[in-house]
Amino acid sequence: MVFITRRERFNAAHRLFRADFSDEENLNTFGKCSNPNWHGHNYTLYVTVKGLVNPETGFVINLKDLSQLIESQIIEKLDHRNINLEVDFMQGKLASTENIAIGIWDELEAPVGLLGGKLHCVRVCETENNSVEYFGKIF
Ligand code: NI
Repeated sequence: MVFITRRERFNAAHRLFRADFSDEENLNTFGKCSNPNWHGHNYTLYVTVKGLVNPETGFVINLKDLSQLIESQIIEKLDHRNINLEVDFMQGKLASTENIAIGIWDELEAPVGLLGGKLHCVRVCETENNSVEYFGKIF
């Protein structure tokens, strides 16, 4: 089994908050990310696909196809957007890095399969220090 990873980047705004919390409770729970006036992050996304090497191409998956898929399904929806307000697959969810990674997985799993690969991991880095990896519903 071979694992191949494509990196993409996007910049987006969000706010972590619960409507049923006061501003103080939101600040205590979510810290700076609860700022009522929004704020942004420079996110880095790593999409890892696994599979066997196709002897005809030497590829697990054509990275050009994977890149175009991530661009059209994910980056165009997220880049320079407000994740809480503008991103269809994040509606009704807390805009945490965890939920962003799960949302991206759910958007990519089926179309990656159509390209002949199997989605292995979606890693979303919100900052240089904080990142989330999601491997699908394995537990
Ligand atoms: Ni934040």
